[in-house]
Amino acid sequence: MTAVLAPTPVDEAVADTLDSRIRRDPNNFRVLSGDRPTGPLHLGHYVGTLANRVRLQDLGVPVTVVIADYQVITDRSDPGPLRDRVRTLVAEYLAAGLDPDRTVIFPHSAVPALNQLMLPLLSLVTDAELRRNPTVKAEALASRRPLGALLLTYPVHQAADILGMDGTVVPVGRDQLPHLELTRQIARRFNDRYGQVFTPPEPLLTGTPNLLGTDGAKMSKTRGNTIALGDTADRTAEIVRAAQTDSTRRITFEPAARPQVANLLSIIGELTGRDPRAVAEEIGDGGAAALKRRATEAINDELAPLRSRRAELIVDPAFLDGVLLDGTARATSVAGAVLHRVRRAMGMDYLG
Ligand code: TRP
Repeated sequence: MTAVLAPTPVDEAVADTLDSRIRRDPNNFRVLSGDRPTGPLHLGHYVGTLANRVRLQDLGVPVTVVIADYQVITDRSDPGPLRDRVRTLVAEYLAAGLDPDRTVIFPHSAVPALNQLMLPLLSLVTDAELRRNPTVKAEALASRRPLGALLLTYPVHQAADILGMDGTVVPVGRDQLPHLELTRQIARRFNDRYGQVFTPPEPLLTGTPNLLGTDGAKMSKTRGNTIALGDTADRTAEIVRAAQTDSTRRITFEPAARPQVANLLSIIGELTGRDPRAVAEEIGDGGAAALKRRATEAINDELAPLRSRRAELIVDPAFLDGVLLDGTARATSVAGAVLHRVRRAMGMDYLG
């Protein structure tokens, strides 16, 4: 029988001070994060996760980024042009400031030990637990298909990535907290059953606002309302010009009453390090046109260096593949050691 322990909800006060603990002793933590290679990264990724990874890396924390290629097929049957997408992701990571000498970047499929780890972890969860996982629920609804077994077991797959790479800190949005809670439970259940092997990872709440798309809805590729990091300055201007606003001329920061206007102000605020309220006051009666001009300028100014580095990198696939090869070698060594610990704890180390 599975040892069902009472869940310990992640204490938000603890999550909030994690950042200061990391600052004090960056080498004591290992950050694990990942992306699915489903398309190019956009402004939301940049402001949310990407900038945070670079910040943690620059604080001296060992950072690992898993390109979760197998996860692409959790909610769709067509994996898409993976080779191109994976290379593009690497180019965008490096262009944003991830340094492949310090940060491990690898494709999930290249490290079989992580998938092997999934088997014992699967034995520690029930189908009912997986069915009520919010991520599984949301994606099952969005995919409008019967729930596939890979989607059902997706939280375990992710737990295997995190635990298999010895990750102790996982940057997440608030919506993903229940998800990480399951990883923590899996870690504790394993430890209870077989002895101390895993450190339950802590969530690092990313405090950045959820940027909306240019139509005021959630920013997502499928809605076509995003500004891709790789878009040109002209294309960016075009997208921002077409962004929805409202008919009130005076610009004010009122996220509830004027979400689209507030969103453009938030983008400017995030990218220029200013309070969106102050930006609104400055624009005042300038109206939507002035707001959009400033937003375009803020985005294009901020992304210009990233975009030129991205352009240089993207034409050098051999270099990008080299980064992945090197990352894979390092990830393989970490995951191999963890798997060995697991097999030893389970009495499976008969072959050494
Ligand atoms: N599931 C994450 C996403 O959809 C990607 C991911 C895979 C991940 N493995 C991870 C994130 C481990 C954090 C930790 O973007």
